[in-house]
Amino acid sequence: MSHPPVVLIGPMGAGKSSCGRKLAKRLGRPFIDTDRQIAAANGPIPQIFSQHGEEGFRAIEREVVADSLADDHVVSLGGGAILDESTRANLTGCHVVLLTVTQDAVAARLGGSVRPLIADGGLTEWRRIWESRKDLYESLAGLTLDTSNRPMSRVVDEVVAWLESQERPGEHPAPDA
Ligand code: S3P
Repeated sequence: MSHPPVVLIGPMGAGKSSCGRKLAKRLGRPFIDTDRQIAAANGPIPQIFSQHGEEGFRAIEREVVADSLADDHVVSLGGGAILDESTRANLTGCHVVLLTVTQDAVAARLGGSVRPLIADGGLTEWRRIWESRKDLYESLAGLTLDTSNRPMSRVVDEVVAWLESQERPGEHPAPDA
């Protein structure tokens, strides 16, 4: 039996790649990290931004994301992938999980990483971007989990439980059924 793709969305540093890798292992399904795929085929992301701008990066990202959304795949998207309208349309029918993180918790995670959109503005810019995208993320997600103060294995447990409830709805009747 095949399963709809499970797609992890959310801001930079929320733990999408780490959660996706662990979740795929737990489910025994293939894992795709779209940022990694983009970099493998096109070079480092900061270089893509400096050579082609954000628009050029988004065009590449759109294609890679569309190719990744096959049944049974667990896919972690870059934080801004959902800005693209066709990507949002492609998420229909997928199990979409929003991972969130507080500004305090993300501070420790972002240190040392090279993310072009926050290279200058740091945490303040991270927060501005999160707030500007929050409603969009929430409109797409079937499940939202905060990853700030607990082990990723617990987050994965909750995603697995939710997927089971989605894929076997008959075993979880509505209270008034
Ligand atoms: C971006 C997030 C990054 C990466 C790129 C742009 C964004 O991925 O795709 O730097 O627009 O939020 P992560 O969310 O994995 O850091």
